[in-house]
Amino acid sequence: MDVVRTITATRVAVSRLAAVAFVPTMGALHEGHLSLIRRAKELADHVVVSIFVNPTQFNDPADLKKYPRPLEDDLAKCREEEVALVFNPTPEEIYPPTEIPVRIDVPSLANGLEGADRPGHFEGVCRVCMKLFNIVQPNVSCFGMKDYQQLKVIEAMVAAACLPMSVERCETVRDPDGLALSSRNVRLSPEDRKHALGLSKALSEAERLIADGESDPQVIERAMTQVIEAHHGKVGYAVARNARSLAPLDIINPQTESVVCLVAAEVGEVRLIDNRVIAPVPRQ
Ligand code: PAJ
Repeated sequence: MDVVRTITATRVAVSRLAAVAFVPTMGALHEGHLSLIRRAKELADHVVVSIFVNPTQFNDPADLKKYPRPLEDDLAKCREEEVALVFNPTPEEIYPPTEIPVRIDVPSLANGLEGADRPGHFEGVCRVCMKLFNIVQPNVSCFGMKDYQQLKVIEAMVAAACLPMSVERCETVRDPDGLALSSRNVRLSPEDRKHALGLSKALSEAERLIADGESDPQVIERAMTQVIEAHHGKVGYAVARNARSLAPLDIINPQTESVVCLVAAEVGEVRLIDNRVIAPVPRQ
């Protein structure tokens, strides 16, 4: 496995590879990231992983500073997964001080939910992903459903910019009790770790209500809020949206349109997100 730090070296290295599947990450790799790498391996001859804590997607400099950077562990995990190339640039390599910043934005998808809480976040994600896609030039890039809004933003950007690559949606990896894996979970106290289950339980409750015929999004949203609050979580949002556009819904009709339920909550000091897509079930 090669580890390269410059754009030029990356371009040279990937030009020698046949079909490439790319997994962009910010490191601190866990089983969720590794599942993307394993899926990537099924999709192409060679897997390229980037490890880059992208400063432009953090609006709180303290958050950026305290983001974990266990590089040696991450490289060992990549080696174990037979990754062909790791791109681990410095911030200056990606954002040279002389660069005139370019805005890439998908406002209709990016402004609400995570974007409302973290202004500029998805612009930063788009800016770095556009650069990474153009540096690595993958045939396919794998993204986790865990960050559903990010996935939608990236899919829209790739389509609108006619990038010659596809985006692979990868299922959320969870602990056996349902908690979605996240690098933030290690910061949960044992008590908060139990409370964190409120998020996945809220989504299960929403799914159950929709399967039972509940069509009022507000009823679903209240039910999700109650479950999270019963687990001592502080709700950021708990919503049922159109799974394609992320637009609010007047009515839920699971026979015709996919619905995505999305939740964000603070559990102790830790902000967690989760979601569940409820696909249409055609009437028999
Ligand atoms: P990061 O948070 O490191 O996540 C990298 C990828 O791993 C994303 O596609 C994310 O959705 C996926 N992922 C995280 N937890 C997962 C889980 N439990 N199951 C499945 N996939 C999971 O997302 C980013 O980095 C950055 O915004 C990035 C796209 C790299 C741009 O900087």
